Amino acid sequence: MNDRIYNRYLEVLNQQLDVADSSLSCPPPTDSFITHYWRLKNSASSKNSLVNLDDYRTLTLRESRTTIQDGTTGLRTWLASLVLSEYLIDTPDLIANKRILELGSGIGFLGIICASLQRLHQTTESAPPPHLWLTDANEDVLTKCRGNVQLPCNLSSTHPNVHHRLLDWTAFEHSASRSTALADMDALDEDIILGADIVFDPALIEPFVTVLALRLFKLRQNGPRVALIALTVRNPDTFQAFLDAVERAALTVEHVDYQSSGRMFLERRKVKRTRLHR
Ligand SMILES: C[S@@+](CC[C@H](N)C(=O)[O-])C[C@H]1O[C@@H](n2cnc3c(N)ncnc32)[C@H](O)[C@@H]1O
Repeated sequence: MNDRIYNRYLEVLNQQLDVADSSLSCPPPTDSFITHYWRLKNSASSKNSLVNLDDYRTLTLRESRTTIQDGTTGLRTWLASLVLSEYLIDTPDLIANKRILELGSGIGFLGIICASLQRLHQTTESAPPPHLWLTDANEDVLTKCRGNVQLPCNLSSTHPNVHHRLLDWTAFEHSASRSTALADMDALDEDIILGADIVFDPALIEPFVTVLALRLFKLRQNGPRVALIALTVRNPDTFQAFLDAVERAALTVEHVDYQSSGRMFLERRKVKRTRLHR
């Protein structure tokens, strides 16, 4: 999508639009079921240039057909999710036996890939895959995420430990809601934090980095955590503001050098993956 249009969308995201009075009187298109194709590394059986669909697995999502709907960007899948998924498919050891916390999960593309990889790398049926917490600030988004994860055609529906939780980063900013938010997070003991396209709104950078720092600095028996964040750089100032906030929080940033191979029928775009740790 054209980045200028996206930035304009962001501007209007928080404005209260009176639909009756505005020119936006036609409703958004209805959700569609979209099937994405993906394949494991080295799973190609054919060497010719024709795509052999037998090499691919599928992932189906009920998605919005617009970029922003009902005041949220979470009802559709964004490019950074696709690229981070591809990176994890290439490096499954990062998550195969790890407890995962995803922030701003949207309708679940990345979560479904993680759940599927965990099921594919599960060694025995008697050892269930670890916990996977998919979190978002928006209740409607989370409900749709649950519906997608549980679609019987998705391998994720067989994962017994996928959890969906409301987690709003801004709750950590205010002392009134902070202690409840912290208590809610106490039950989580993730090994790795994931996030895709959740650095886009300058106003959300501080609250998001606050949550990251809280989780990355929280002491645990199994050693330090890392966070893998994929983001599309639409506006260099927003990206720099993110890096500055991360530095103020005394977190260490490592840029991951990874080029999407386009194996998932992806358009190649400039997406940065950032690895954060304390
Ligand atoms: C651009 S979408 C990305 C969704 C998904 N990760 C993807 O890549 O397709 C941003 C997501 O961040 C969530 N979000 C926005 N503000 C948030 C907040 N304050 N706390 C937690 N999540 C938030 C939105 O609901 C939305 O799902």
